[in-house]
Amino acid sequence: MSNQIRKFPEGFLWGGAIAANQAEGAWNVDGKGLSTADVAIFKKGLSKSDYKKHNKVDEEQIQQAMRANTAEGYPKRRGVDFYHRYPEDMALFKEMGLKTLRVSIAWTRIFPNGDEEEPNEAGLLFYDRLFDEMKKHDIEPLVTLSHYEMPLYLVNQYGGWSHRIVVDFFVKFSRVVFDRYKDKVKYWLTFNEIDSIVRHPFTSGGIVSERFDNVEQAVYQALHHQFVASALAVKYCHEMIPGAKIGCMLTKLTTYPYSCNPKDVLKASKNNQFNMFFTDVQVRGEYPRFINRLFKEKNIHIEKQLGDDELLKVHTVDFISFSYYNSLVATENSEGMETVSGNTIGGVKNPYLEVSEWGWQIDPIGIRISLNDLYDRYQLPLFIVENGLGAYDKVEDGKINDDYRISYHEQHFQQMLEAIEDGVELMGYTSWGILDLISYSSSEMEKRYGFIHVDQDNDGNGTLNRTPKKSFYWYQEVIRQNGLKINDEPNGDTF
Ligand code: BG6
Repeated sequence: MSNQIRKFPEGFLWGGAIAANQAEGAWNVDGKGLSTADVAIFKKGLSKSDYKKHNKVDEEQIQQAMRANTAEGYPKRRGVDFYHRYPEDMALFKEMGLKTLRVSIAWTRIFPNGDEEEPNEAGLLFYDRLFDEMKKHDIEPLVTLSHYEMPLYLVNQYGGWSHRIVVDFFVKFSRVVFDRYKDKVKYWLTFNEIDSIVRHPFTSGGIVSERFDNVEQAVYQALHHQFVASALAVKYCHEMIPGAKIGCMLTKLTTYPYSCNPKDVLKASKNNQFNMFFTDVQVRGEYPRFINRLFKEKNIHIEKQLGDDELLKVHTVDFISFSYYNSLVATENSEGMETVSGNTIGGVKNPYLEVSEWGWQIDPIGIRISLNDLYDRYQLPLFIVENGLGAYDKVEDGKINDDYRISYHEQHFQQMLEAIEDGVELMGYTSWGILDLISYSSSEMEKRYGFIHVDQDNDGNGTLNRTPKKSFYWYQEVIRQNGLKINDEPNGDTF
């Protein structure tokens, strides 16, 4: 290793990412309403690879959650108490050198049921305080309007996003927050992982499967409503906050063919095409032609209102943000093959890749491929707003030596540099779970991503004290020098 630094572009937005539902806690404080995330329970004893069962929410679970006036057994209700501890956390983020912090706004803090006439002032004040604290430390807020939660009332009353009226409620919420924070927030995202509604309709769309005869139809209709709501949010953001930038957010699921058998190649190509269906709509402003075949084969009919097509066409996003955790492999015949899990989706194991303790394939080169694929298709600036390694950490003598996490990030950063060299415009990078928080998929605490350790176990025991890990100081150095030491080993990365 030489002492030369390979630099990221000037002004690169280094940061961290969290979401309200996994970090804030304070589920019933200052008038907050019950959200879909408050229904999630930690299902002890389920195997890690059973990710589908972990995040499945059924009717009984919803009814129980509505009766449960406690955070016990509902980890997302307590989060990591970011709601009260954010000043301390922000001081640590500042020490790390973060330029930006990705947070989300809990809809239920602003409109507890979703359909009120007036917003909840106490909820608005919380985000005022939060953004002011960021400003104090020169940390630029990057705000997601909808990250895996919505008012549970709208789910019960209207069937979640499957009902058109939810677009109006969401637009009202968006306009209230644009208006309130127009002088404090310049960077916005509409829906976190908008594609994920097809994999977990409840979390991303408030769709309770048992309540629909044809769940797929409801899901695609709900997705259409989210596309429209997103376009309207883009419209109002541009009108109300001149100079603001607003992006979409995709789970980047890059798929490789298992072999060069054309059938495997075709399958992988179809998966990749489907993954970019969502960005096609939000970036190019229209449904791509290939999706009609899927709709035809599945007998799905999207009900559009007059003017929807034009809204989608006119109000496209300014940049594309995405999460990247793992790549996938596709094959025609997967029978008897070893499988792995991944970010809300699993598949056949790639024999060339290692897996994390949760069975997610670790593929740094995949981030370079993903960046190039997105940039080739859209030529819009890209922003990696989630990436990281969920792992068990050991505290020894008060220290956490997470070399495995450093190595994971180091390898991904090297590939990001390669992608930039390839010509990709990359605005920034926010590491997921910059401080340990509750896992989305399993509601565990012990699946840790952070550069900052939070003392809490899966049952909610612990002091909640924050401790910088070894990776904290490593990331601090990367940000300080805005680059990485040059790796002298030949890696075959040239054109
Ligand atoms: C992304 C979500 O899909 O993955 C986050 O946007 C989530 O909310 C992250 O936490 C990691 O997934 P998990 O299940 O390990 O928390």
